[in-house]
Amino acid sequence: MCGLIGYCGEEPAAPLLVKALQHLEYRGYDSAGIATIADGRVQLKKDVGKLGEVRQKHQLDDLPGTIGVGHVRWATHGGVTQANAHPHTDCTKKVAVVHNGIIQNHRELRSRLEAKHAFVSETDTEVIPHLLEEHLTTSNSLEQAVLKTTRELEGSYALVIMSSQEPEKLVATCKDNPLVVGKSRKGNFIASDDLAFPESVTQIAFMEDDETAVVVKDNISFFTNDGHRIEKKFIEPSWNSGEVSKQNYPHFMLKEIMENSQSIRGAMVQDKKLITHMAMDILRAKQIIFTACGTSRYAALVGRYLFSKLAGKFSDVIISSEFHYFSDSIDKNTLVIALSQSGETADVMDGAKLAKKKGAKIFSLVNRNNSSLARMSDRVLYLNCGAEIGVAATKSFSSQLTLLYMLAFAMSNRLDEGLEKLNEVSIMVEKNFSKNGKNIEELAWRTKDKNDFYYIARGINFAIASEGALKLKEVSYAHAEGMPAGELKHGTLALIEEGVPVIAICPSDHTLKETLSNIEETRARGAFIVGISDQYNPIFHEWIEIPSIEYIYYPLLTIVPLQLLAYHSAIARGKDPDKPRNLAKSVTVK
Ligand code: M6R
Repeated sequence: MCGLIGYCGEEPAAPLLVKALQHLEYRGYDSAGIATIADGRVQLKKDVGKLGEVRQKHQLDDLPGTIGVGHVRWATHGGVTQANAHPHTDCTKKVAVVHNGIIQNHRELRSRLEAKHAFVSETDTEVIPHLLEEHLTTSNSLEQAVLKTTRELEGSYALVIMSSQEPEKLVATCKDNPLVVGKSRKGNFIASDDLAFPESVTQIAFMEDDETAVVVKDNISFFTNDGHRIEKKFIEPSWNSGEVSKQNYPHFMLKEIMENSQSIRGAMVQDKKLITHMAMDILRAKQIIFTACGTSRYAALVGRYLFSKLAGKFSDVIISSEFHYFSDSIDKNTLVIALSQSGETADVMDGAKLAKKKGAKIFSLVNRNNSSLARMSDRVLYLNCGAEIGVAATKSFSSQLTLLYMLAFAMSNRLDEGLEKLNEVSIMVEKNFSKNGKNIEELAWRTKDKNDFYYIARGINFAIASEGALKLKEVSYAHAEGMPAGELKHGTLALIEEGVPVIAICPSDHTLKETLSNIEETRARGAFIVGISDQYNPIFHEWIEIPSIEYIYYPLLTIVPLQLLAYHSAIARGKDPDKPRNLAKSVTVK
């Protein structure tokens, strides 16, 4: 949710900032802007639109100067307008601020400041440059003014700030939002994500809450919020922007769907001892709670099923944004398993922090190395699926499932057997791509004018129905609902009428007979039935064939055609699947 970048060095800043923002656009893409310092003043360009549009319209790369900040926005406070785009400045235009997060007390601060300061935007952010303007008059340095300013802020923030009065430095600070600094030979960077850094960055350090960094051309120093100097450990970056390319695919989403099988194999590369320890802890814990949002939550639902089926261990799944409301039942006997591709989702972080405070143990399944969730967890398993850029999660879902299978197998002392099987499944996933591709594309075009879809399944595939529906909603903007097949008759059946697509995930397992009866009930009301199954049934209007396998593995096979259907539906409807409207990949606001 909003991407921030800052650079201070020997090279022209603007082209570096623009390049970095390209790799941060997954965090927000409704407006973009950069500011540099040259000729003793802040030079700033910003506008609404995707970065490419703003870059071209305003010739962003041409801004002079070797220091600057940049921003891609996902609007929270204030509409998508040029005035609301970042960077924001103070009345004197000496200070430029980029912000990710929400300032909760912005109304109070604004009403106090408005007597003396002219506000030009509707954002919560704009109070910050005006506060800085005031504090700079009584401070020895920009960093001192930043410390005084953040003491007045309530809410969450990652901030990168510069001032034409001290044109040699950037000051950055964060609370409940990520920031990472990067060193290169020709200058230093600060960003929301190390994915933004160029390959010349060889060392990075993650900032913790309430730390402040002062970044100059050849040095980065860190302070606590009471101004004490601290030393931080630098590590090598785990990946960088060079890795992030669409290769020959038209979209990241399609490329990432095609990487599903290798994601399964990537996730399997784990320290078996660690998995076994974690499995033992899970078995010992009195209460197991999964917490996650969106796609990661659907993966957790599969995990809940697997823990019960393979190890007889009951667990529950709580949506992270609702986690707080269950805090009374969390204590030191609770083990929380948090799932998050980004490891930065504010709702997940919030839930995990609360659980930790109450004495619970936190395990996490995360893709991004050293992300905030990974850093605060007692134990972490990494998905190892590489950068996922498409806003719709695809390959990371397969990786999450793989880790959950591994944990469940380890809980029943059958990890090696599980690994062998998962390897077979990954090969099946790969082979199955070519089989159904055309079919699914045709189906997407055939249903492109339909606006309501119902996804149904039973047992372990119920979560896949929900995830399939989420994918379609996100990228094609069609309304879709996923539900247990048996639940239809308790209400939703009233919505089924002639031609409404019902996507039934119904492999030939112990749930088939009953699912077929539920499909029958929709067909009797005119539904257009798409069956995802290893077995043809004349009840289907369209059959998407998947291979037969032992039933617990079906989720890894059934999810792929559903991801492809969503992708092709977006294309058929003329939408950009990589950057769906109103969404962002990393949701760092609550
Ligand atoms: O990074 P996370 O896994 O924590 O993200 C959680 C959700 O925001 C995410 O899964 C979202 O629902 C995706 N856009 C789904 O495709």
